Amino acid sequence: MTPIPTPQATTAKPLLRVLNGQRVDPPPVWLMRQAGRYLPEYRELRKQAAGFMACCNNPEMASEITLQPIRRFGMDAAIVFSDILIVPHAMGRIVRFAEGEGPLLETLCGEADVAALDPDLVVPGNQPLMETLCRVAAALDDTTALIGFAGAPFTLASYMIDGRGGGVFPRTRAMTAENPDLLDRLCAVLSEAVSQLLVAEIDAAAEAVQIFDSWAGLLDSDESFMRWSITPIRSIVERVHRERPGVPVIGFPRGAGDRYQNFVEETGVDAIQVDQMTSLETMKALQTLVPVQGNLDPELMLAGGDDLVNAVRRIRETLSGGPHVFNLGHGVVKETPPEHVATLVAALRGV
Ligand code: CP3
Repeated sequence: MTPIPTPQATTAKPLLRVLNGQRVDPPPVWLMRQAGRYLPEYRELRKQAAGFMACCNNPEMASEITLQPIRRFGMDAAIVFSDILIVPHAMGRIVRFAEGEGPLLETLCGEADVAALDPDLVVPGNQPLMETLCRVAAALDDTTALIGFAGAPFTLASYMIDGRGGGVFPRTRAMTAENPDLLDRLCAVLSEAVSQLLVAEIDAAAEAVQIFDSWAGLLDSDESFMRWSITPIRSIVERVHRERPGVPVIGFPRGAGDRYQNFVEETGVDAIQVDQMTSLETMKALQTLVPVQGNLDPELMLAGGDDLVNAVRRIRETLSGGPHVFNLGHGVVKETPPEHVATLVAALRGV
């Protein structure tokens, strides 16, 4: 059953107003990885779980973790506690989180591995996430929005092919040159899986969704960026727009450099998240096309002090002429003192 779209232009939630193109000052704020290891209350709960994936799959725990930064800092949005790697996991690929090593996956090798992937397993395999979303929505007040998310096909493919993160991805790079058609097929399966997942997240309770293409920066030619970042994401955005009209989709092609504008124009995303390498001038230019989100260097929040306060004010001022969501350029660094997050929010809201 298709839910009736909510009239978001009249919502009281500042995040949704901005994602609909309105200017709101001070801008709404949330931070990528705002729920996580820099919070002592997260580390405490995490100890009680059998592992990171078990934590994601426990709606009681995951909803509590999602709400921790909302209670502490009064963020304008909650991003559901989960991970991008739930997609390969639900398709039967082995995904492990080794302590201190980040994710480790069984590597995907050839034609047969790709042919065996069934995207229809992803929503049924992630029902705990849907329950987490419902629980969080019930606990939020009427000014705080709920964001769902998924990894972009190319980023998911990179983890699946190389089996680990770390930013080098030699096997993925090799596949772009030696077997590009297989990478196309893998991205097509993942586009289908991610489209279904995002629609299901929206049906559960997500009011906006973000697509993380964390390793889009590896695609260093216009042609490869178009083929494996833009094209799969465009198909997901079209599908979400068609099936759940009115729900904004935020795109994050991290490391896209001077290709952000092209990404916005070609994918049809409703808003663009940028990294810390992207200048405020570039953001201002992008802001004439869609609402912009991001830029603050997570290292500045780690360091804290006057440099943080000044950077926050400069970003707010520079982007105050158009729709802007305050965020970092990448996730919260785990050594960040929680007080620095409070400092950021206070500086932004001018209190
Ligand atoms: O608060 C939020 O933003 C929501 C939760 C969230 C997590 N992962 C929780 C998490 C989100 C949005 C993600 C997205 C994610 N996961 C991305 C895209 C964003 C990015 O960082 O580029 C990627 C690439 C992943 C894959 C992943 N999961 C990695 C690389 C790691 C290791 C990270 C590290 O710092 O070691 C994870 C594990 C992970 N995902 C943790 C959390 C809180 C840490 C797990 C733990 O508690 O041990």
